[in-house]
Amino acid sequence: MIHILFILCSLLTFSANAAVQDFCVADLKGPESPAGYSCKPAATVTVDDFMSSGVGSAGNTSNIIKAAVTPAFTEQFPGVNGLGISIARLDVAVGGVIPMHTHPGGSELLLVTQGFIQAGFISSANTVYVKTLKKGDIMLFPQGLLHFQVNAGGVTAVAYASFSSATPGLQILDFALFANDLPSKLVEATTFLDDATVKALKAVLGGTG
Ligand SMILES: *[C@@H]1O[C@H](CO)[C@@H](O)[C@H](O)[C@H]1NC(C)=O
Repeated sequence: MIHILFILCSLLTFSANAAVQDFCVADLKGPESPAGYSCKPAATVTVDDFMSSGVGSAGNTSNIIKAAVTPAFTEQFPGVNGLGISIARLDVAVGGVIPMHTHPGGSELLLVTQGFIQAGFISSANTVYVKTLKKGDIMLFPQGLLHFQVNAGGVTAVAYASFSSATPGLQILDFALFANDLPSKLVEATTFLDDATVKALKAVLGGTG
């Protein structure tokens, strides 16, 4: 009997210790590691570390893609640090597009809350999965795969994308190819595009070389 009580006490002590690390609100001033940021001292954490109004307002779509992505990743919303979860708001004006892109760090679940979005992704086998989504529809985009969203109606579309990572990352294909100093000759060699097309896209997207 005493023996059993001792084991129970040990288990209770163990679970009390195991529950200490409930969260790890990012200390954004500290270094970032592959596991995330180090934790803000628990005594300084408040409820405001776990809420954000950032995705409540429409993003500015007066730009070349006529669309805006408003992320609530660790950088904007430190409370998600270490929890493997985050969210972003998409505003896509009429004629707007979220260009072909990937999130290297996480899968995406998109929920359309206004308008219509034609969305798709391309698998590693180069199979294309495309669908026009309406308000209330959700669509999955598996981690790392190229995907896109295009406004498919006569009104601004709004959607929320949740991610299986606090830092899913965002790499836009056209920006990777044409918005940096990757030499045109290398872009042409690796994409089979002609020089005039590459130079024109670099000019539009701010690339050099
Ligand atoms: C939206 O962005 C454009 C282009 O940068 C800018 O001229 C405009 O003032 C912005 N609008 C708002 C409401 O911030």
